[in-house]
Amino acid sequence: MDKTVKEQKTKFQADYRKLAELALKMREKSYAPYSHFCVGAALLTESGEIYLGCNVENASYPATNCAERTAVFHAVSEGETHFQAIAIAGGKKEQQCLEYVPPCGICRQVLAEFCDPEEFEVILAKSPQEYRVFRLQELFPMGFGADDMEV
Ligand code: THU
Repeated sequence: MDKTVKEQKTKFQADYRKLAELALKMREKSYAPYSHFCVGAALLTESGEIYLGCNVENASYPATNCAERTAVFHAVSEGETHFQAIAIAGGKKEQQCLEYVPPCGICRQVLAEFCDPEEFEVILAKSPQEYRVFRLQELFPMGFGADDMEV
């Protein structure tokens, strides 16, 4: 078992499992007629609420929205702007999640807008039992943020 999984087992196992389960389930809502790659996300706010999202594709491919951003925009539109963690699960339609699916660059940038990268946790799930946990800082070092405009 790798270090990241061992660390969370002592502290937050139940929450991670629940978020992983919700992200996996959310794949069923994915609208992915072009890639047939279904992604689900479950975003935990600091207030303990969970917002869900799936990828929503478009015939004009760049108009596609990833699952993570769907979840963030859903939460923000409900007035939530402080987040603790996000679980992400992705894989080919009607198949199990065979690989860990990391957030794309745009989603990392969007997450960084609302999160402390040293605290915020990104849970990559293949199943409720099989997941890895990262801090956003590890996945998105030296990201551009509001502070960088204070020059
Ligand atoms: N996708 C996500 O939803 N999240 C990611 O972080 C990676 C990619 C979606 C976008 C597109 O609908 C499909 O996966 C293939 O790129």
